[in-house]
Amino acid sequence: MKTDILLQLGLCALSLTAAAAAPATHNGIQHPLTSNKIITIHGPNLSSKQRIPGHNDAFYGPVPKDEQIFRIELLEIAPSPILVNKYFFILLRGEIPRSTRQDLHLQPADLADATLSITGSAVLEKDGEEIEPQRYTIPLRTAELGTEGEAHLAIRNATGAYVDHLALEGRNDILFDYWIPGPFVVTGKYTFEIEASLWRKGKGKGEDRRICLFALTLTQRLEGEEWPW
Ligand SMILES: *[C@@H]1O[C@H](CO)[C@@H](O)[C@H](O)[C@H]1NC(C)=O
Ligand SMILES: *[C@@H]1O[C@H](CO)[C@@H](O)[C@H](O)[C@H]1NC(C)=O
Repeated sequence: MKTDILLQLGLCALSLTAAAAAPATHNGIQHPLTSNKIITIHGPNLSSKQRIPGHNDAFYGPVPKDEQIFRIELLEIAPSPILVNKYFFILLRGEIPRSTRQDLHLQPADLADATLSITGSAVLEKDGEEIEPQRYTIPLRTAELGTEGEAHLAIRNATGAYVDHLALEGRNDILFDYWIPGPFVVTGKYTFEIEASLWRKGKGKGEDRRICLFALTLTQRLEGEEWPW
């Protein structure tokens, strides 16, 4: 099971995608991505960009800030911008306001099923090729990710205890650590959309609705390494 998770992680998968877009002569494999394919990149809406408090280069979106129910107190990403081959650390702190919890009749179980989606896209520097957005979804839960445990997602509640999933009441810290392997990255401008959401159960069938906890977009340059083969 764990083997697949790294690929689902988005960051790495995107790096691999970018690598796949590199000339096929590197390994002789035919790649589905062709340079004359026209791809739409869902970049941030520049006219409505809203910064997130803390040391980071991210913005709220694509879901508008006022539709996000998790109030972000701060977002720290170190280093910012993220570098390949070096661990980076993310701390996202915030909470769901009491009034929102009450209005939506949220239960702790709703948060146990929350998910985290990462959508990655890129524009490669060398030839301007656009890498199609790819979306990966994992449970928003404390977990070791990757084949060798090279990534970790952890959640702390208001009293500092490490917990399995977001607590309904009080402040939560979401922590993440990972490193992007440089040889899998082709230098370019990368956009990551990170969206956490939960499903609010409706009364009838098909009445469930998705509620956005938080959504943030990070666009930055990643410098890849020469292929070792
Ligand atoms: C970008 O955001 C502004 C302000 O919210 C909105 O008026 C505009 O239609 C948006 N543009 C696109 C392309 O979504
Ligand atoms: C945090 O989690 C611990 C361990 O599960 C629990 O004892 C504590 O009551 C929780 N605190 C809050 C504020 O949820």
